[in-house]
Amino acid sequence: MTSTVVVVGSINADLTTNVQRHPHPGETLMGTGGTVSAGGKGANQAVAAALLGADVAMVGAVGQDPMAEDALKHLRASGADMSAVAAVDGPTGLAVITVSADGENTIIVVPGANATVDAEYVDEHAELIADAEILLLQGEIPAGGFERAVELATGRVVVNLAPVVPVGVEQLKKADPLMVNEHEGALVLGLLGEPTEETDPQKLVTALLKQGFPTVVMTVGADGAVVGDENGLTEIPTPVIDAVDTTGAGDAFAGAFVAKLAEGQSMVDAARFAARVGAFAATRPGAQASYPTTDDVLPDVK
Ligand code: RIB
Repeated sequence: MTSTVVVVGSINADLTTNVQRHPHPGETLMGTGGTVSAGGKGANQAVAAALLGADVAMVGAVGQDPMAEDALKHLRASGADMSAVAAVDGPTGLAVITVSADGENTIIVVPGANATVDAEYVDEHAELIADAEILLLQGEIPAGGFERAVELATGRVVVNLAPVVPVGVEQLKKADPLMVNEHEGALVLGLLGEPTEETDPQKLVTALLKQGFPTVVMTVGADGAVVGDENGLTEIPTPVIDAVDTTGAGDAFAGAFVAKLAEGQSMVDAARFAARVGAFAATRPGAQASYPTTDDVLPDVK
C-alpha cells in the first residue's frame, strides 16, 4: 500500500484545562475543562491533511491504555491509513495543555509510546516511507526515528521542527521546506551553530536560507507567515479572527500546506490556503476537533 503523504510522528492524548490567565510559577489557579482529546503534532498534521482530501498514512505508536482510543479517534475518522500505527506496552503520549481566555496555550508533552518511534521502528515501515511523495516530520519522536525517516525518503521532505530538538544537521537540511515559527527558527539557527537574538521573521528566514535550507516557511501567528524560496520572500496574510483556542492551529497550517503541495500547488499558494485553515482551527476548541473538512467555509483575508 502506498500513500502520497506519510507522517512519521507523535500521537498524543491532550488533557486540556481552561483558565482566565496562565498561572505564575508557584501559583495555583482554579480552572475548567479537564477534557481529554486527540492530539500530537504528527497526528494533528496527518488529520488536517486527510480531512482536506490528501491521501495520508500515519507512522507512529500509542500505548495500550484507555487514552489510546481518545488519541486515535479523529485519525480513524479522517480516513488516514493507520496500518503503521503500533499499540505498544506502556502509556500513550500525553500533552498537558492550559488554554487562557485569549486562546493562548502552554503545552507540556510526556512522550510515552512516541518514544518507541525510533530508527528500528521506522525501518519496519521503510517501503511506505520510501514510496511517499511527501514525508512530513515534526520534533516529537526520537532523533533516531526522525533521521532514519529522512534517509529512507525518496520524495519531498517537509519538516516542522516543533519542538526544536537536536536532530542530525545533514538530515534536517533536507527539509524543503523547513517550517517553523520565529522562536523555533531562532532555535534552529542555534542548533546549526549560529545562535541569534533576532526576532524579525524576514531576517530569520533569510538566515535559515543562508544555512542551506532550500526553502523555509515561517508561521507568525496572527501576522500570517513568510515563505522563503527561489523567488525571494513572500508575506502570507492571515484572516483576522477571534481566537478561542490556538492549540494545534500551527499543525492545521502544516497539514493543509502539505495537502495543497500534494495537489501540485506552489508553496506560496499552499501557504495562503494553510493560513486560512490555521485561522479556522483557532476559532474552535481543541486540536484535531477544530479542523475543517472540504465542506467547511474558511475565513477570508480582508
Ligand atoms: O501542536 C499542538 C500539539 O502539541 C497538541 O495536540 C499536543 O499534543 C502537542 O503535541
